[in-house]
Amino acid sequence: PDFWAVIPAAGVGRRMGADRPKQYLALAGRTVLEHTLEIFIRSPRITGLAVAIGGEDEYYRELTIRSDKPLLVVHGGEERCHSVLNALRALKHQAADDDWVLVHDAARPCLSDEDLTRLLDTLRDDPVGGLLAAPVADTLKRADAEGRVAQTVDRAGLWRAFTPQMFRYAMLVEAMESARQQGLLVTDEASAMELAGHAPRLVEGSPANLKITSPADLALAEFFLGRGQV
Ligand code: C5P
Repeated sequence: PDFWAVIPAAGVGRRMGADRPKQYLALAGRTVLEHTLEIFIRSPRITGLAVAIGGEDEYYRELTIRSDKPLLVVHGGEERCHSVLNALRALKHQAADDDWVLVHDAARPCLSDEDLTRLLDTLRDDPVGGLLAAPVADTLKRADAEGRVAQTVDRAGLWRAFTPQMFRYAMLVEAMESARQQGLLVTDEASAMELAGHAPRLVEGSPANLKITSPADLALAEFFLGRGQV
């Protein structure tokens, strides 16, 4: 089976408070999205990519992207799950049912080649698929309505879900369509697979694979990219 990358890049990044969506902010001499796409374009294991961008996007065409593999650009939707589904549908004629799809946030430019390779190698024979993730390091508190601690949550067995999230094409499309029909706005693909009764595998990855959300994350990402090995 082949491996395809699906990159949701249609968010507006409101929490960033910048003049443009966060995937188009400058990071180590390029935009965040250029770094992210480059990871999959340079990987010899990836057959092609589908990127979802906003309907009003005026930045994508300004990017410098050289790809020797198919790179489909589609319009995203209201929420991340809609963007992913649009990109998956665009792959309909290229991807076989049992091909693998790796869904990866445009806002995670620090995914290392090592983590990508480990994900592919760990899951390639898995019946379900799974995702990169890391055990929670902080003590977790549940808040009440007044912002006081209602409860301390035991962090044992709790993981932070990262991307890529890697599933078989047909199974993933079915799970995402089904979540959508139930009106559920899943925030990651694993959630859709769980709702469909599957148990995705957690593959430990580096916490350097951060999702750029606030301005401080850009500085951290620059540090991780500069280190070359994240
Ligand atoms: O907002 P958040 O950081 O959770 O978004 C995660 C990823 O999903 C980002 O790469 C963002 O561009 C993408 N997204 C999308 N379509 C939306 C909302 C978010 O493709 N409607």
